[in-house]
Amino acid sequence: MKIFLDTAEADKIRRFAEMGMVDGVTTNPTLILKSGRKQKDAILEICKLVPGPVSVEGVSEKAKDMAADGEEFASWAANVVVKVPMTEEGLRAVRMLSKKGIKTNVTLVFSAAQALLAAKAGATFVSPFLGRLDDVGEEGMELVRQIVAIYRNYGFKTSVLAASIRSPLHVVQAALAGADISTVPPDVLEKMFRHGFTDAGIKKFLEDYNSAKKKTG
Ligand code: G3P
Repeated sequence: MKIFLDTAEADKIRRFAEMGMVDGVTTNPTLILKSGRKQKDAILEICKLVPGPVSVEGVSEKAKDMAADGEEFASWAANVVVKVPMTEEGLRAVRMLSKKGIKTNVTLVFSAAQALLAAKAGATFVSPFLGRLDDVGEEGMELVRQIVAIYRNYGFKTSVLAASIRSPLHVVQAALAGADISTVPPDVLEKMFRHGFTDAGIKKFLEDYNSAKKKTG
């Protein structure tokens, strides 16, 4: 499974990109606000750090305007993917953009029916928002399972991008469900490195190494 970083903060991306851990990046207006930077400046820097797909989202509501925004975003860098919301107008924009060879990520997906339509429209990626479903007492992971099964049944090429990830458990469950990608906030990626037993094991090995050295020199 590929790992994307769900952030517009270049410093956080750089740290993990240097390790080859970042296959792509997703941003949205909220994450741009959090970065404290102008959207274009942030995206240009991220696109240089990460050769994989970088999702960029606009706020237009009409298909024509979304497509125009998308063409503008796609002119910024070769790896830009245009994020459009899961609406009828959004899917019209997906069709327009895909005819021009521009990749799209259909976002704010909360049902398998929506994901089916996004794939039929020719979306490159579809983003089910797991955490936000969990927040309202629905099982976000079940949605990922359903989308993966539907896409497999019919051979849709749209990649399933598990989004609104809140924990390492979400990432593991998304991988088990067959999601192609998880887009992960940097703090969740940090947690994925860690386990208390790893730290305890390192500590014990160091203690025993030092004890052995004392005894045998
Ligand atoms: O990429 C956007 C998505 O991951 C949002 O996550 O935490 O705002 O629900 P969240």
